[in-house]
Amino acid sequence: MAAARLQWDAWLLLVFSTVCSLAAASFTRNLSVELNPGSPAPPPGGDLLHVRALGDADTLHFLFCSQGAPALLLVRTNVTSSRVWVDWPRFLSGNSSGSLRVEPASSVVSSTALIFSRLLEYDDVNNTAEMPFDLFPPYRLRDDVRWSAMELSGASARLCGGVAGGSVCLHLSVFGREGRDETWPRLLHTANSSQVSVRLDGLRPRSARSRFVLELRAAVGGAYPLDAVRVRRSIDDEFTPSIFKVSEWTSAVGDGGGGGFVQWKQVAYRRPAPTLEDASPCRHSDPRRPAGRALAEAGGLALAFLGGGGDAGEDGVLAINVSFGVAGEAFYNHTRFLTWTTLVGVGIPPADAFSPLVAAIMAAGLGAPLAILLMGGVYVCLRKRRAAASAGNYQPIN
Ligand SMILES: *[C@@H]1O[C@H](CO)[C@@H](O)[C@H](O)[C@H]1NC(C)=O
Ligand SMILES: *[C@@H]1O[C@H](CO)[C@@H](O)[C@H](O)[C@H]1NC(C)=O
Ligand SMILES: *[C@@H]1O[C@H](CO)[C@@H](O)[C@H](O)[C@H]1NC(C)=O
Ligand SMILES: *[C@@H]1O[C@H](CO)[C@@H](O)[C@H](O)[C@H]1NC(C)=O
Ligand SMILES: *[C@@H]1O[C@H](CO)[C@@H](O)[C@H](O)[C@H]1NC(C)=O
Ligand SMILES: *[C@@H]1O[C@H](CO)[C@@H](O)[C@H](O)[C@H]1NC(C)=O
Ligand SMILES: *[C@@H]1O[C@H](CO)[C@@H](O)[C@H](O)[C@H]1NC(C)=O
Repeated sequence: MAAARLQWDAWLLLVFSTVCSLAAASFTRNLSVELNPGSPAPPPGGDLLHVRALGDADTLHFLFCSQGAPALLLVRTNVTSSRVWVDWPRFLSGNSSGSLRVEPASSVVSSTALIFSRLLEYDDVNNTAEMPFDLFPPYRLRDDVRWSAMELSGASARLCGGVAGGSVCLHLSVFGREGRDETWPRLLHTANSSQVSVRLDGLRPRSARSRFVLELRAAVGGAYPLDAVRVRRSIDDEFTPSIFKVSEWTSAVGDGGGGGFVQWKQVAYRRPAPTLEDASPCRHSDPRRPAGRALAEAGGLALAFLGGGGDAGEDGVLAINVSFGVAGEAFYNHTRFLTWTTLVGVGIPPADAFSPLVAAIMAAGLGAPLAILLMGGVYVCLRKRRAAASAGNYQPIN
């Protein structure tokens, strides 16, 4: 019996690894990276990164820039020949409105910009992690941060800026295939999503009990603003231990699955190479319309693409606050480091399934005994039938 069990487990593992390798060979995109498309010289004030992710019948254009408020723009077209076009003099002028296009315009299916607008800091005197009304003056990532040149590495880019004696860094990665990052929270990504990590490293807090809040704005080109954040339960697996919630910022009504999404696990980490104790829960507010003209205020990339028709783009802007830390937890001053990671993509946000390891263990633990029972049942049945057959023509009594 033990030998049969072992064989069966080995067989199951084989099946699972085959299924997994088949799944790994799923949809892919060809990536090409272009810096400052169409510009004769590096522009003053920061590079514009363009990653083209070519699919079989569509193209995703990822654009990333620190001109204006740092932003990631994701444009999906339903052709494989779409191009990014930039009117550089206007892009670099004080008013970039309408200076970046994706052509042909008729091929654009959806466009979503994630704007990193402000970093808020408050003194959590009572350790309740509730934001008071009197915050410290916010850091506007557009005006109060000095952004350095973009560091490129393949289809990844890092933007860092100096603020409050430390640095804030945004690390973008675009992927051509499904996979997972090596560092926690090890988010699952697909060929239709990119990942941005935000790091607050060595900032001088303005109080010993300071906590930080990141304000994000999402702007869209179509009729479906990102007006809802849904929270799903996730499974506690070996990829993101002890975290049970995934947040998805999407349009409440959707647009047939073609629109943008922002997805994160509700965790930040207090060290660059975290252990379990360095995980810190994060929370978010409901999306709401920011005061004023958010797109004009953001300027740069978001305004360049979405600000085309006067103020029309302003209606598509919604903002949320992502706050780091909960009541009773260590303050920022403890490690003077925070990192938080999110996916930005189009279509259906990826969902964690049980990992192959867990599935194989479960299958071996539950499946094998069940299968053995089943096989045993079949064997007993066959034996009975054979016995019945050999019993000849006798009819059962009753
Ligand atoms: C990606 O590139 C490979 C090799 O250059 C090519 O065979 C394949 O057709 C390309 N796929 C797409 C979707 O363009
Ligand atoms: C910016 O430029 C656009 C298009 O050229 C124009 O419609 C808009 O009025 C300008 N905005 C400001 C504040 O100058
Ligand atoms: C691409 O999308 C546009 C706008 O949604 C639509 O009018 C057009 O027919 C689509 N083209 C293809 C080839 O699907
Ligand atoms: C902190 O707690 C004290 C005493 O309960 C209260 O008076 C004060 O308003 C609280 N401060 C904040 C910022 O919540
Ligand atoms: C990614 O987009 C392609 C093309 O639209 C689609 O066929 C594929 O199913 C999507 N993959 C995921 C994981 O959403
Ligand atoms: C942060 O903590 C250090 C020691 O851990 C302390 O010296 C410093 O004063 C604290 N910073 C603030 C702003 O209180
Ligand atoms: C984020 O928090 C700040 C400070 O409380 C507030 O002024 C702002 O309106 C909030 N933003 C959103 C989108 O809730």
